[in-house]
Amino acid sequence: MEQMTRLRDQINYHLYRYHVLDAPVISDAEYDELYRQLVELEAAHPQLITPDSPTQRAGAEPLGAFAKVSHPAPILSLANAFSVADLHAWRARIGRLLPDSDVALTFTVEPKLDGLSVVLTYRDGLFVQGATRGNGEVGEDVTPNLRTLRSLPQRIPVDPASALIPPPYLVVRGEVFFPLDKFEAFNLSRMEAGAAAYMNPRNAASGSLRQLDSTITAARPLTLYVYDFVAWQGDNVPDQQWARLELLRAWGFPVSPHNRHCPDLDCVAIAYEEWATLRNSLNYEVDGIVIKINDRPLADSLGFVGKDPRGAIALKFPAQEKTTKLLDVVVNVGRTGVLAPAAALEAVEIGGVIVRNATLHNYDEIARKDIRIGDTVLVKRAGEVIPYIVGPVVDVRDGSELPIQKPTHCPACGEPAVQPPGEVAIYCDNSACPAQLVRRIEYFVSRGAMDIEGFGGQTAVLLTEKGLIHDIADIYYLNKEDLHALEGFKDKKIDNLLTGIAASKQRPPERLLAALGIRFVGSVVAALLLDALGGIDELAVATQEELEAIEGIGPGTAVSITTWFANDNNRAVLEKLRAAGLTFAKARPAAADDTQPTPLAGLTFVITGALPTLSRDEAKALIEQHGGKVTGSVSKNTSYLLAGENAGSKLTKAQQLNIPILDEAALRQML
Ligand code: IVH
Repeated sequence: MEQMTRLRDQINYHLYRYHVLDAPVISDAEYDELYRQLVELEAAHPQLITPDSPTQRAGAEPLGAFAKVSHPAPILSLANAFSVADLHAWRARIGRLLPDSDVALTFTVEPKLDGLSVVLTYRDGLFVQGATRGNGEVGEDVTPNLRTLRSLPQRIPVDPASALIPPPYLVVRGEVFFPLDKFEAFNLSRMEAGAAAYMNPRNAASGSLRQLDSTITAARPLTLYVYDFVAWQGDNVPDQQWARLELLRAWGFPVSPHNRHCPDLDCVAIAYEEWATLRNSLNYEVDGIVIKINDRPLADSLGFVGKDPRGAIALKFPAQEKTTKLLDVVVNVGRTGVLAPAAALEAVEIGGVIVRNATLHNYDEIARKDIRIGDTVLVKRAGEVIPYIVGPVVDVRDGSELPIQKPTHCPACGEPAVQPPGEVAIYCDNSACPAQLVRRIEYFVSRGAMDIEGFGGQTAVLLTEKGLIHDIADIYYLNKEDLHALEGFKDKKIDNLLTGIAASKQRPPERLLAALGIRFVGSVVAALLLDALGGIDELAVATQEELEAIEGIGPGTAVSITTWFANDNNRAVLEKLRAAGLTFAKARPAAADDTQPTPLAGLTFVITGALPTLSRDEAKALIEQHGGKVTGSVSKNTSYLLAGENAGSKLTKAQQLNIPILDEAALRQML
C-alpha cells in the first residue's frame, strides 16, 4: 500500500510537471516505468486502487446518462464591455455604489478563454466531483470525463513536498478547452472515419467532455485553466483575487501564465492592447480579457445584475470575424479519394491577415448551414486554425445565390463519386484517379514516410502528367531518360533524385507499410503490426480476427487492412515494389545458420516484463538465433510467454488463454 501511495504521488507529480508546468524532470521512459509499476501493483491488489490513481485517468465504464449536480453557489456569467471607455463607465458605476467612490481599486486581468465552464469539487484535497455549468444552478456530473484531463489535479497540493493545506471542502471553477494545434487534424481524422466535423474548437471541447463513455474523452487532447473559487470551508482562502490565483497555482492547478495584477485602469488598457497580438500566438481561443476587482469581499458586496456580477467585467476583443462573398466552392481530391469542398472567397482582411480560402469540412455541413454560392458569408479566423465559414447572412440575399451541389463526379478523373452509407464524406473510388495518385505519391515520398530527398509535390504532378508514373511503385522504375523529358530537370537534379529514390529502398518495412497510405495505418500502427507479424507478407494474409487480436488494432483498422490487401491493383503494386528490391520483412538479427541448433523452430514467443539478465532485445535475438519467432502480442498462436518481473497485461492475457509461461531460466533450459 505504501509503495502504491508513493507511486501515485510520484506519477501525479510528474503529470503536473509535464502538463501544467511544461517542465518535466524525468524522461518519458522513466515515467512509463513508474506507471508500469503502479499498473502491476494495482493488477495484483485491485482492492487498493484509489480514485486519485493516475490509472483512473484512462476513462471509466460508460454511463447511461449524466447525473445532475446542484452547484453550491450560482455559477455566474459576466457582463461585456467592448472598449476602454466602457471600462471607465463600469468603474464609475461601481463608484456610485461605494461609500467612497474614489477608493483606490486594483484589478486582475485574466484571459477570457472561449471554452467550457466547469466546476470542480475537492474534499480533503481529493478531486471528488466535476460538473458542467449547466444553467448556472444545476449542471451535469462529468467527473469520470474530467478525471481524464492530465492537467487536472487528482489531489492537491500536487507537489507532495508542499506545506499548503487545502480547505477540507473546496469548489473551484475553470474553463476546459481544445488546443488549437490539434483541432484541424482531429477534425480531418473524424471526417476520414465518417463522422461529422466539429464546427469550432469550443464545440470540440464541449463535445469531447460531454461523452457518456469517458474513454472517448481520454483520447481527446482537452486541458483547462482554473480561475475562481466558488465555495470553501475554513478561512485560509485569501481575500485578494490575485492571491487566490497564486494559491491555485501553488496547489498545482493549471492557471494562466498571462494573468496580471494591475494597479489601475490605465494598466488594464495597456494589457488589452497587448492582448490584441498575444491572442494570436496562443494555442487556445481567447475572446477577451476578464477584469476583476482584486478585493473580492468588496467585489462580492456589489452584488449582481441578472447573472452578471458587478465586481467583474469581460472586455471583448473585436471579433475575428468578417463578412465577405463566397465566390465558388472548389473540390479538392484527397489521398484517400475524399472529395473535400473548399470555399473560394473574395479576399478579406481578418485580424491583420488576408483570407481567400476557408474550409467547408463537408457537404452535410454546407447543407446544414444552407450556404450558397454568391452568399455573403461570415468568416471566422482564430489563432492558427484554418479560417472557416460560420454561416451565410441570409438577409442580404438577392435571389441570385446558387445552391451548392454535391459532386456527382470526381473533378480530376470524371469517375462517378460515391458516398458510402453512414459516412459524411464523398469519395472518388477510382484508384487510378490522377489527383489521388498525386496525393498518394506526395504522401509516399514525404518525410514521415519513405522520405525521398529531392522529390517534392511539383515533381509528383509533373511525373503523373507526363504519364511516367501510374502508381507509387513506378517511382522505382524511373530512369535518366524519363527524367530528362521533364521541364527543369538537369543532370544534377536528376542524379540527386535517383540517388534519393535508390536510398529509400533501404527503409525498414514499417516505413514502407505506413507509406502505402492504407486508411488508419500510420507509422505507429505500422510498427505495431510488423512487430506482431514480422513482415508485410504476413500482414497481407492475416485475417480480420488475427489483426484484431493484436494489441492496439481495432476493428475499423482491421477492415481497412484486409480490404486494401484484397484489392488486385494494390497487390500488383506490392509485387512491383518487391521486384524493385524494397524490404518487406523485418530484419532478423543473426539468422540461424546450419551449425546452430534450432530447438525453437516453429515456436512463437512473446516477451514481457524485466528479465533478470537479458534485455528484451537480447532475449529476442537469442530466441531468433535458435529458430524461434518473437511477436509483440499474445494470441492463441503464441507458444510461450517469456515473462520477467513486473509483467503486465500480456501476462494476464496469456493466463486467460492458457499459454505456458517461462522465466529466463526456463528458456535457457530449453536452449
Ligand atoms: S469569471 C465572477 N474568469 O467567460 C465569476 N470567467 O462570458 C464569473 N470565462 O461564464 C466568471 N475565462 O465561462 C471568469 N478568467 C475568467 C474566465 C471566465 C473564461 C468564461 C466563463 C464565463 C464566461 C462569461
